[in-house]
Amino acid sequence: MQFQASKHPLVAHWLTEARSKETPPKRFRHLVKEITKILIFEASRNLKLSPTSIMTPLEKVDSAPQIATPITLITIMRAGNAMLDAALDVLDWARCGHIGLYRDPSNLKPVEYYFKLPQNIARDEVWLLDPMLATGGSAEASIQKLMELGVKKIKFLCLVAAPEALKKLENLNSVELEIYAAALDRELNAKAYILPGLGDAGDRIYGTIEAH
Ligand code: PRP
Ligand code: URA
Repeated sequence: MQFQASKHPLVAHWLTEARSKETPPKRFRHLVKEITKILIFEASRNLKLSPTSIMTPLEKVDSAPQIATPITLITIMRAGNAMLDAALDVLDWARCGHIGLYRDPSNLKPVEYYFKLPQNIARDEVWLLDPMLATGGSAEASIQKLMELGVKKIKFLCLVAAPEALKKLENLNSVELEIYAAALDRELNAKAYILPGLGDAGDRIYGTIEAH
């Protein structure tokens, strides 16, 4: 497993605003999307290019570079949906999948309620999108299902990661896993929320719980 926390000043700046409890859902959603776009740029830095032939208005180019890797973007709902919109704006040729999971508050285990992926997913590089990597349970459950379907390479993009999640995901050996986060935070609290974190990402994106 490889982990990278963004060093981009814009990411740090926008994440500070997203963390603030004064930031309302409309602005929070916008920040999630802007940060996601930079994470997509960082995660795409090592994509392979292959030559293709095109005509410009002026002449033929025989070896114009084009990304060759087939990519499937997968949102872990519901919070990942805000990231998916932004990711698709950049990787507009990607296929998309949806995994519905929520964390049961009594035992913190992920409960699956939806699973819909493109056909022949094993041939694609999969980019999983979820703003929060807390215990790592939701990510681990998603990755395990993808491994069962033959996926070999996964990039996981998130806003905030906790050390506890990274420790858990380190044990997933039979998949090539790269994690791109806006920040690595300090720890989890007793209810497995990330500290300092940004609260419940889904509630903040969709305004389901009013700010106090
Ligand atoms: C949040 C978040 C992750 C999960 C992270 O979703 O979006 O999916 O918690 O926690 P974990 O690493 O401990 O599994 P949540 O379960 O609150 O569902 P929601 O997106 O529907 O709000
Ligand atoms: N899920 C969230 O949305 N936030 C956390 O801090 C932990 C899990």
